[in-house]
Amino acid sequence: MKIAFFDAKPYDRPSFDAYGAEHGVSFKYFETKLNEDTVDLAKGFDGVCVFVNDTVNAPVIDRLCGLGIRVVALRCAGFNNVDMKHAFGKIHVLRVPAYSPYAVAEHTMALLLTSIRRTHKAYIRSKDFNFSLSGLTGFDLHGKTVGVIGTGRIGRVFIDICKGFGMKILAFDKYPAPGLEEGEKVRYVSLDELFAQSDVISLHCPLTEDTHHLINGQTLDKCKKGVVILNTSRGALVDAEALLAGIKSRKVGAACLDVYEEESDLFFEDNSGHIMEDDLLARLISMPNVIVTSHQAFLTEEALENIAETTVKNLVGFFRTSQCPNELCYRCSGAEDCKNSKCF
Ligand code: NAI
Repeated sequence: MKIAFFDAKPYDRPSFDAYGAEHGVSFKYFETKLNEDTVDLAKGFDGVCVFVNDTVNAPVIDRLCGLGIRVVALRCAGFNNVDMKHAFGKIHVLRVPAYSPYAVAEHTMALLLTSIRRTHKAYIRSKDFNFSLSGLTGFDLHGKTVGVIGTGRIGRVFIDICKGFGMKILAFDKYPAPGLEEGEKVRYVSLDELFAQSDVISLHCPLTEDTHHLINGQTLDKCKKGVVILNTSRGALVDAEALLAGIKSRKVGAACLDVYEEESDLFFEDNSGHIMEDDLLARLISMPNVIVTSHQAFLTEEALENIAETTVKNLVGFFRTSQCPNELCYRCSGAEDCKNSKCF
């Protein structure tokens, strides 16, 4: 089985080569992203393997079908870059629903601690033998309230980590998880209450029509002054212009972003020798209380192994049995796994 692997990075190859070789799947690595201009590279392959910033829109799906390709294997959990409605009945879409919720949740806490304890500033100062503490005052997390939006796999691990810090947790989910609430320690509340009461807000829900720009000017108005916004989920959950305005007005105390709405042409690449065209991102990065990482929350050895293993199993299962438990299906609401191929 030959798979065209788009947006390939050096750190992808060892685990995909190893699991692929074990199961008779060979990957041809293309550094370019999949889009309308590059889709013809998939000619002659049995399937394509894509990541978060590859484009799987209607023209790409139609062209893949024209090339006789029956399967798109996402090597990530989110699938907002796939036109699921258009894919229905034409091409099968497989994903890796979970690879390491710990990787993302732990990175979220790393960003929060870095931001509020100014570790990023201290690191640079001490490299220059500047041991002054001025401007490095942080605050305790113990006793603070964190609002967690999305209590799925990652949100729940993040809640556990926050519990360890002695934080009070307010949660919101469209589909609350039974058994998560713990009296006053962990409570599901309305979004409005979460915005009004939280010192820190962390986003762990998927990007959908409902959640697009969930953090915007109006919702920031409902927040406490000095609120810390954490986004390690998807960029477009946050209206970045409104966030910048909130930072300039001092309403937002800090923001930690592993994702950004317009990240697809920038993140994962070395742009250090280029003029930054995106003024909004440049302005956000220039702020002392904003930390941006380049969609790296998933990037642990454990997660890379799990991603490769599950992707290869998905492909093998699909080609051998036409069934894959990790197939996505638009008919089943576009967001839930289903018994898939039956729906086609
Ligand atoms: P999950 O599917 O286990 O949990 C998502 C939760 O969001 C579910 O409980 C669901 O009910 C809830 N939800 C759905 N619609 C909602 C709405 N309108 N409002 C509030 N909650 C809603 O997903 P998981 O594994 O926890 O991942 C969460 C997100 O993290 C993914 O959608 C993905 O975008 C992002 N992610 C980011 C990574 C990174 O490297 N930065 C890596 C992996 C995932």
